[in-house]
Amino acid sequence: MITLTRTGAQENVALVTLNRPNALNALCRQLMQELSETLLKIEYDESYRVIVLTGNEKAFAAGADIKEMAKLEFKDVFQNDFFTNWDTLSHITKPVIAAVNGFALGGGTELALMCDIVYAGENAVFGQPEISIGTIPGLGGTQRWPRFTNKSIAMELCLAGDKISAQDAKEVGLVSKIFTVQQLIPEAVLLADRIAKNSPLIVKTVKARLCRGSSINAAYETSLSQGLQTEKHLFQSTFATNDRLEGMTAFAEKRAPKWTNQ
Ligand code: CAA
Repeated sequence: MITLTRTGAQENVALVTLNRPNALNALCRQLMQELSETLLKIEYDESYRVIVLTGNEKAFAAGADIKEMAKLEFKDVFQNDFFTNWDTLSHITKPVIAAVNGFALGGGTELALMCDIVYAGENAVFGQPEISIGTIPGLGGTQRWPRFTNKSIAMELCLAGDKISAQDAKEVGLVSKIFTVQQLIPEAVLLADRIAKNSPLIVKTVKARLCRGSSINAAYETSLSQGLQTEKHLFQSTFATNDRLEGMTAFAEKRAPKWTNQ
């Protein structure tokens, strides 16, 4: 249910495709288990620098598998923690770009919310329709939407279950750029290439959980003053790396930097 393809100008971009088209990539346990395993494999393989996560032209993911969930009782989801491993994506330290065409509903939107950058095709549809099936977002929607946007937008999405277009998603700050359906993945891979050109160590400092914190991620998880402290410490820590010295020296010498990841 998951396809992993190596791509990008330097063959160091992992294109991860959700591949359950008959169910609009509904997130069943098996798909999420495979997604988790694939992401961890990429995380520990140094030859991959950036991840692009996508679906197909009709659906990124139409949410958790409602047919699978319909039979479950409280004890099943509580005792077995129904969402075990479903948030692996939020622990990956390499940059993840979501390339969303078509439906990204419920857990599909929540997967996009866990990514670092979201590019959308012009046919993308986002939303938290869980309320219409008698439940609430379970993969972080009630927590991440208010941090991305504001209380009013988060409430509107989660209480009314409204679907929003790519353009609306861009206006509320979830999506950074919109492309045609066909151009979406090539553009996401070009962005991945631009990120992959930089020092992996410094990329990780921007994104990942180094030193019990991160810089951009900390903005969503701490107060402003704690976040500013984290950024200052991480900024200072780049001066302990060769890549920081190399990057600044190369600039002064008008040449391309040679990253050593140290
Ligand atoms: N779970 C299971 N199957 C799903 C599904 C889902 N979330 N979404 C679509 N499918 C299946 C349909 O049942 C259908 O299967 P069959 O052909 O076997 O009947 C197939 O995918 C195609 O779907 P539709 O015929 O419905 O396609 P459509 O184009 O008419 O409608 C849609 C598309 C508007 C996305 C509609 O399928 C839909 O509303 N899906 C459910 C969306 C939803 O409520 N998502 C939230 C799930 S709960 C959740 O995600 C909890 C959480 O926080 C993690």
